[in-house]
Amino acid sequence: MRSLLRQDGQFRISWILCYVPESFFKDTYFNFFFNMQFKRLLLIFSGVLLLTQLQGQTAVNLHPDQAGARINPEIYGHFAEHLGRCIYGGIFVDEDSNIPNVRGFRSDVIEALKELDVPVLRWPGGCFGDTYHWKDGLGPREDRPSIVNVHWGGVTEDNSFGTHEFLEFCELIGAEPYININVGSGTVQEASEWVEYVTSSNESPMTKLRRENGREEPWQVKYWGIGNENWGCGGHMTPEYYADLYRRFASYCRGDIYKIAGGPNVDDYNWTRVLMEKTARYPWLIQGLSLHSYTLPEGWLPKVSATEFEEDGWAKTMRQAYRMDELISRHSAIMDQYDPNQRIGLIVDEWGTWFQVEPGTNPGFLYQQNTLRDALVAGIHLNTFNQHADRVKMANIAQMVNVLQAIILTKDDQMVLTPTYYVFKMYSVHQGADLLPVNFDSPKYSFGGMEMDALNASASIKDGEINFTICNLDPENDHPITLTLTGESFSSSNGQIVTAENMQDYNDFGRPEAVTLSTFKVPAPKKNQLEVVIPAKSVVHIQLKR
Ligand code: AHR
Repeated sequence: MRSLLRQDGQFRISWILCYVPESFFKDTYFNFFFNMQFKRLLLIFSGVLLLTQLQGQTAVNLHPDQAGARINPEIYGHFAEHLGRCIYGGIFVDEDSNIPNVRGFRSDVIEALKELDVPVLRWPGGCFGDTYHWKDGLGPREDRPSIVNVHWGGVTEDNSFGTHEFLEFCELIGAEPYININVGSGTVQEASEWVEYVTSSNESPMTKLRRENGREEPWQVKYWGIGNENWGCGGHMTPEYYADLYRRFASYCRGDIYKIAGGPNVDDYNWTRVLMEKTARYPWLIQGLSLHSYTLPEGWLPKVSATEFEEDGWAKTMRQAYRMDELISRHSAIMDQYDPNQRIGLIVDEWGTWFQVEPGTNPGFLYQQNTLRDALVAGIHLNTFNQHADRVKMANIAQMVNVLQAIILTKDDQMVLTPTYYVFKMYSVHQGADLLPVNFDSPKYSFGGMEMDALNASASIKDGEINFTICNLDPENDHPITLTLTGESFSSSNGQIVTAENMQDYNDFGRPEAVTLSTFKVPAPKKNQLEVVIPAKSVVHIQLKR
């Protein structure tokens, strides 16, 4: 009887009513009514249960069938300037020093960099670049002239690290060199001769000089920057004036090279417009346009300590890191107007955190520590560059050793790998892979009136292997996600994580690492789905194989 009632509802009830005694009817009717109510309650209860479970669960969709632009390995590039202890002490020491070295290049630093697959290294500046005269750095070291490094601490630069040393260092670490030419205080002839000295195999005064200095064969140097921050330290020029000057310099820097024009300061969209308007129509003169933007949480001038901060300093820094996406989108939109086929690359050749120098250090040396906060900033930036792989063709963190958001710190013969180093190591899997779309609605992270996405991610595919990198910048809350690979299933997965107990944690000399790269347990995928919790204040990498 019960089943009849359940299946046939009211009509059946009235039918039954005619044939059953009243007492039975009462009973059955009661049973039916009770059953309906119970069902309803059960439904509501399971609904509530489901909702509670789904709340905070972010659905993330990855689309392996929609592979997009190739992520240029150069997006994972670096920058080394004659600034503070970046070159001298950080990369290059006296050959007779008790710090183990290969012809003056620090062995520990070389080994650490080789682990990272450094794709490209920019040199010699920065602001130093527009004061640098490359011929000062040739020949026997004892004969090289000394100059004053006017931008960085007024220290003596003895030119012992010059073109040959830079190119040898690039060979040792397996990186492509990127040389930045002096426009601010240099001449067209000096620029043109530098390119010839380095890249030409013809018979010429410059190639003769190179041979005399011990190098028979030319080097393969593809990337050449023509000027640096020419709106500021590189000459305080107007975009119109610089664009004309750029065209002149670029005309005489000949060969099969990739020429990069000095680009805007942060959100100076007019600079980009003028440069594109005046140069884009000469494809042989320009292949890239640079962009510089630092993460300065309190606006221009580094007012914030690298290690002593609370959640306010954390949130402001994250908000600032997110700005890179807007900058790239808006500069790219202008570039699209003059270069719809995206022939000209956007080269973000200076980015990173800029905090106060460590107490007691030379303010002109820009030496700062590097905490878990920097790791998150690196993760957000690298995800952003990946997402813009169609336009962003190179990016160079500032700087490689001992300066600003350094990946490596040194003190005499000791070396520390920073949290940023580990993020670069984790993300190196994206180099040369194809970008995959990732769709999700991120939960929000709010603090002190600021609100931003708590999760930030990117994904790529190479040789059938999918790499997904995600930052949870919420310092308090873990965020569970369900990762779905649309239309595909995968059989194995593994993960890595960079996190720490406190957001202020950093690695220091003579003590065990507080922030490092560890294995992250990823549960077994169920067909094309994976449920995983992204811990608070962490950068996570999940690798999926079919
Ligand atoms: O990276 C430090 C300095 O920042 C560079 O020399 C300059 O280009 C920028 O302003």
